[in-house]
Amino acid sequence: TTTDLEAEFERIVRSDQRIEPRDWMPDGYRRTLIRQIAQHAHSEIIGMQPEGNWLTRAPSLRRKAILMAKVQDEAGHGLYLYSATETLGVDRAELTENLIEGRQKYSSIFNYPTLSYADVGVIGWLVDGAAICNQVPLCRSSYGPYGRAMIGVCKEESFHQRQGFELLMTMMSGTQAQRDMVQESVNRWWWPALMMFGPPDDRSPNSAQSMAWRIKRHTNDELRQRFVDMSVPQAEVLGVTFPDPDLRWNAERGSYDFGEPDWDEFMQVVKGNGATSVERIANRRAAHENGAWVRAAAAAFAARIAASQEE
Ligand code: ACO
Repeated sequence: TTTDLEAEFERIVRSDQRIEPRDWMPDGYRRTLIRQIAQHAHSEIIGMQPEGNWLTRAPSLRRKAILMAKVQDEAGHGLYLYSATETLGVDRAELTENLIEGRQKYSSIFNYPTLSYADVGVIGWLVDGAAICNQVPLCRSSYGPYGRAMIGVCKEESFHQRQGFELLMTMMSGTQAQRDMVQESVNRWWWPALMMFGPPDDRSPNSAQSMAWRIKRHTNDELRQRFVDMSVPQAEVLGVTFPDPDLRWNAERGSYDFGEPDWDEFMQVVKGNGATSVERIANRRAAHENGAWVRAAAAAFAARIAASQEE
C-alpha cells in the first residue's frame, strides 16, 4: 500500500541510505529534485558563457588552454546533471525547452558580465568556491544519481577554484595596474557570489522540506556563512579586500559577521532582469537552433543502424 511505500521511503531517507530511480518516492520529492537538478544543469551550461567570452582574448596560450579545459568541464557537468535529471522521468530536450522559454531558472551569478581577465580568476576563486561550498554537502544528497554526480563535479570544481586562485596570485604579483584590476573584479563579484546560496532562510520557501528529505543538507544561510569564513583568510593571502564595511571577526561566534546582500537586486536577477540575462538565453537559444541539424543527423543515423540490425 501507499502507506507501506511511504514508510519505506522515510526509512531509507532517515537512515542516510540512497533513494534510487526505481524506488517509490513522493511526487513532491520527485518534483523538487527535477527542479533543483535541472536548474543546476542549466547553470553549468549557461555558466560556460561568461568565461567563454574571454577564450579568444586570453593573455597567453597557457591561459587559453586552461580556460578552454575549464569551460569544457562545465559542459560535462551540465550533461552529467541532465542525465541525473532524466533518471526522474523527464526528457533532456524538454529541459532545454524549459530553459530557453524561461520556465526554469539557472543561477543568478551567471547574469553578470565579465569585464576583465581578472574576472576569469575571480570566477574560479569565488564563484567556483561558492559552488563547492554548496555542492560538497550535496554529495550526501538522499537521491543516489544526484549525490554520485556531485562527487566528480566537486573534484573538478576544486581544480577550477585553485586555477582561479593561481591566476589571481600571478596578477597580484604583477604591476599595480594588474593588482587594481583584481581588486576591481573582487568588488563586483563578492556580493553576487554571496547571493548564489539563495535567499535568507526565513525567505527560502523550499529549504525546510528539502532538508527534511535530505536533498539539501544545510540551509542557505549556513552555507553562506561557511563561505565567508573560508574566503576571508584567502583574501588576506591574496592581498585583496571585500567591499563590505560590516565584515569583521566575531570571537564569540567563532565566525565572521558580514553585511546583508542586496536582496532586491537578487530578486530582479532571478526574475530575468540581470545585466546579461537576455543575452545569455538568446545565445543558448541560438546554439540550440544552430545545432538542430546535428541532432537530426544523429537521430537519422541511429534509426538507420537500428533498421539495418532488424534486417
Ligand atoms: N539563482 C537563481 N535562483 C535561485 C538562487 C540563485 N542563486 N537561489 C535560489 N533561487 C531560487 C530557487 O530556485 C527558488 O525558486 P523556484 O522555487 O522557482 O525553483 C527560489 O529562489 C527560492 O529559493 P529556495 O527556497 O532557497 O530554493 P532551494 O531550496 O532550491 O535553494 C539553492 C536554492 C541553494 C541554489 C539550491 O537549489 C541548490 O543547492 N542547488 C544546487 C546547486 C546549484 O544549482 N548550483 C548552480 C550554481 S553553481 C555552478 O554551476 C558553478
